[in-house]
Amino acid sequence: MAKAKTLYQCGACGATSPKWQGQCPGCGAWNTLAETLAEAAPASGRFRALAPAARLQKLMEIEAQEAARIATGIGEFDRPLGGGLVAGGVVLIGGDPGIGKSTLLLQALARLPESMRALYVSGEESGEQVALRAQRLGLAASGLKFLAEIHLEKIMAVLQEERPRVVVVDSIQTLWSEELNSAPGSVSQVRECAAQLTRLAKQVGITVILVGHVTKEGALAGPRVLEHIVDTVLYFEGDTHSSFRLIRACKNRFGAVNELGVFAMTDKGLKGVSNPSALFLSQHGQEVPGACILVTQEGTRPLLVEIQALVDQTHGNPRRLTVGLDAQRLAMLLAVLHRHAGLPCYDQDVFLNAVGGVKIGEPAADLAVLLAIVSSLKNRALPEKLVVFGEVGLAGEIRPAPRGQERLREAAKLGFTRALIPRANLPRQEIPGMTPIGVSRIGEAVERLGESLLGFVQKNEGRSEQQKTNQ
Ligand code: TYD
Ligand code: MG
Repeated sequence: MAKAKTLYQCGACGATSPKWQGQCPGCGAWNTLAETLAEAAPASGRFRALAPAARLQKLMEIEAQEAARIATGIGEFDRPLGGGLVAGGVVLIGGDPGIGKSTLLLQALARLPESMRALYVSGEESGEQVALRAQRLGLAASGLKFLAEIHLEKIMAVLQEERPRVVVVDSIQTLWSEELNSAPGSVSQVRECAAQLTRLAKQVGITVILVGHVTKEGALAGPRVLEHIVDTVLYFEGDTHSSFRLIRACKNRFGAVNELGVFAMTDKGLKGVSNPSALFLSQHGQEVPGACILVTQEGTRPLLVEIQALVDQTHGNPRRLTVGLDAQRLAMLLAVLHRHAGLPCYDQDVFLNAVGGVKIGEPAADLAVLLAIVSSLKNRALPEKLVVFGEVGLAGEIRPAPRGQERLREAAKLGFTRALIPRANLPRQEIPGMTPIGVSRIGEAVERLGESLLGFVQKNEGRSEQQKTNQ
């Protein structure tokens, strides 16, 4: 079969060039040219739409049915999926090497009934390796089929013939299509292979689960378009040194995003943790400076996470390091702390950590971050049994967080008795065992904690020392 003509296209502006160049001839961007199929390639359907074409209809006349779910039987995996796998749906799972992607998918496939004709395609491991793992995990995968293959066209042929209901491709970066010259894992190969598999999935109603590698920065390797093609993108996260693993949905056409599945890695594979709210608290004998308990909301579940800060005298340039939290946001919060609570940190190193390897993206963590920093800066522990949440704005205001009541109730359930929260989040009805303290400005929050609880006096007129001397 003749090779299709390829050319190089800029990922930023779409300009094409017959050969690779470092700089795009169209827009001048660097390193954006990637090999793609030439548009003039045979019209034998390579550029067909991902979903089958249909006739023109009125939207109201289309019968919309809630997609039937194939529950995998692993509750914590079904949860981020939105209740289970969907026929014809394509799921992409990304995560660091060794975090447990292959293990989880093997466990999930092995639990499916034989009528699903589940198929595991691996380009990374041999049949013996996967069989050995299944044996060690004690999986009775009697109906599960296995294929060690990286050649896309052969995999497609097998899928056409076998018609499995669910197929796992581990991983998309190992596949290669004979249509392209580039090596497996290159942008064009990944994109082309994913597009072909997606098209087939939609045509014949196969559920495809693609495993994707992540880059050093933690994003899914391969083109961004990969995330646009698929229906659901899941990220596996967690600290490989701790046994907890989180699966987060960051895109889901069949369900809510930011739902979280929590697992523990054991010697018998991944086990779901159905009540994870207290997992991310470290066990201190007594209260320690620099620790603040945040109630964060992940999808429909509140989680309690300990935020730890260490503020220490700088030698040289001040350093700001974060684990599990956004470093840019930390810089912003430190500026707010200076301007609106009068606590400068320009001569301090600030290190920040979310316990347990959990990644926190929601702005409602701001207040807990700042109070952990204040606690470390003053070397005074925050009062015990205190939880905190709330977003901090650039003007020093404390903005409400969504689902405040649920957060408070979960904290009360775990034995916390006090909460420092945005004033707008104060509950209308009393929550048994919980005394919420509402604040509306960061200065006010620091002042209240300082006077009554931390034992230092923070006089705050909303301006820093610097500004006052400037006047
Ligand atoms: P794996 O699923 O191969 O990771 P990925 O496919 O994401 O690269 O996970 C392998 C890791 O999990 C490995 O470091 C060992 C650990 N593990 C266990 O702790 N218990 C088990 O039962 C299994 C199968 C793996
Ligand atoms: Mg693997």
